[in-house]
Amino acid sequence: MTQNIISARFGEKNAHTLDGYQKLGGYGTLKKLFGMKPDDVIEEVKRSGLRGRGGAGFPTGMKWSFIPKNTDKPKYLCVNADEGEPGTFKDRLILELDPHAIIEGIIICCYAVGIKTAYIYIRGEYDAPFARLDAAVKEAYKAGLLGKNIHGSGTDVDVVIHRGAGAYICGDETGLIESLEGKKGQPRPKPPFPAVIGVFDCPTVVNNVETISALPWIMSNGGTAYAAIGTEKSKGTMLFSISGMVERPGVYEGAFGVNLWKFIEDSTGGVKDGKKLKAVIPGGSSSAILTADEARNVNLDYESIAATGAMVGSGAIMVFDEDTDMVKALEVVLRFYAHESCGQCPPCREGTYWLYEIVNRILKGKGRPEDIDLMLSICPDMLGRTICVLADSAAIPAASYIKKFRPEFEAYINKGNPPERMLHPGGINLEARAL
Ligand SMILES: Cc1cc2nc3c(=O)[nH]c(=O)nc-3n(C[C@H](O)[C@H](O)[C@H](O)COP(=O)(O)O)c2cc1C
Ligand code: SF4
Repeated sequence: MTQNIISARFGEKNAHTLDGYQKLGGYGTLKKLFGMKPDDVIEEVKRSGLRGRGGAGFPTGMKWSFIPKNTDKPKYLCVNADEGEPGTFKDRLILELDPHAIIEGIIICCYAVGIKTAYIYIRGEYDAPFARLDAAVKEAYKAGLLGKNIHGSGTDVDVVIHRGAGAYICGDETGLIESLEGKKGQPRPKPPFPAVIGVFDCPTVVNNVETISALPWIMSNGGTAYAAIGTEKSKGTMLFSISGMVERPGVYEGAFGVNLWKFIEDSTGGVKDGKKLKAVIPGGSSSAILTADEARNVNLDYESIAATGAMVGSGAIMVFDEDTDMVKALEVVLRFYAHESCGQCPPCREGTYWLYEIVNRILKGKGRPEDIDLMLSICPDMLGRTICVLADSAAIPAASYIKKFRPEFEAYINKGNPPERMLHPGGINLEARAL
């Protein structure tokens, strides 16, 4: 089922301007918001069951309630617009087509948590989204929707846009905070968590663009209405970026709980050129891969996808057809992680490098019979032992591609080259980001 909450204004003329947004009811929640107690706003968001759309799926209202109430320090909001997970391109649409929904969401979050300054950390390569966002922030200041004493409410909210410089690791919340502070974008060990020690050592909420954009709908329609959509633990809708070998790649909004493959087929028209389905990545390149059978028999919600060993992640669905060469596909994925590792943790720095080196030599026809098991033996040593989860993000897909498509890896090693019909790396392009 396609349901429009986040994407409701995407097709509407001039929805990216203040005038267009307000004609469609935009900023309509503010009167209600300022009439509520901040704690009641947090309760409303908790009631909605909204979970973060940046990858980890952490409950948003709960995250806000971790921010200390009695502190002399300022508190900050960081809106994560880095959108670095390969296969993900949904925040870009919100930034370009509905930037005022982000600003309205920021006001809601800041009011609820007692924050006066919000940073939006936007991916450096996002020129057009930056231009739209910047124009929207300027319009909002001019109209008294940002700055001091918003609409006479006594609430002050300032928004600062910060452009990244092209490193995937700056999408990790603590890498982002370090980068924002002007340091090298290297994640910090946790604890302490950003809710206690975040930007400039002050309590900080980090939320994804889509998470923030869901707030105006929740405030306007109520948390209960949002929670009525989806499943018991996966509430509401999510934007899914669907790419790869499908007829109509794009961003599609869907309610949780539907069959994964049916959602893909209904949205995109199914596998391109009538080819057979081979595999699906359900949640970005960091996720384990699903075989065609698994993809046809799983529901699209956090728990069902997790039960397969994969994840909903940032909602980046990539579809592989029968001609996909899984060795090439894994080589592309591992090249990305080896390039993007920040190098602080040996299991990540060494593990991503060696996984890439080995798959690369297999691909070049120079693999040794023991290489497949060697790769499988490296993966467990990369799980759960590093500062951030980038190491896991390389090891989990590596082990799943090898275990589920082992004969293809063996064919490279035994014959020194791939079977003739294996043509492409799955229509995915996970080129490492330029540093
Ligand atoms: C290596 C790495 C990259 C990440 N990149 C992004 C990103 O580009 N955008 C994002 O919103 N979250 C990203 N995350 C997740 C953030 O750390 C964080 O969980 C998220 O921004 C929290 O917002 P949410 O609760 O609204 O999902 C990344 C995490 C890791 C470990
Ligand atoms: S896991 Fe990798 S990317 Fe993350 S902090 Fe350690 S070395 Fe850096």
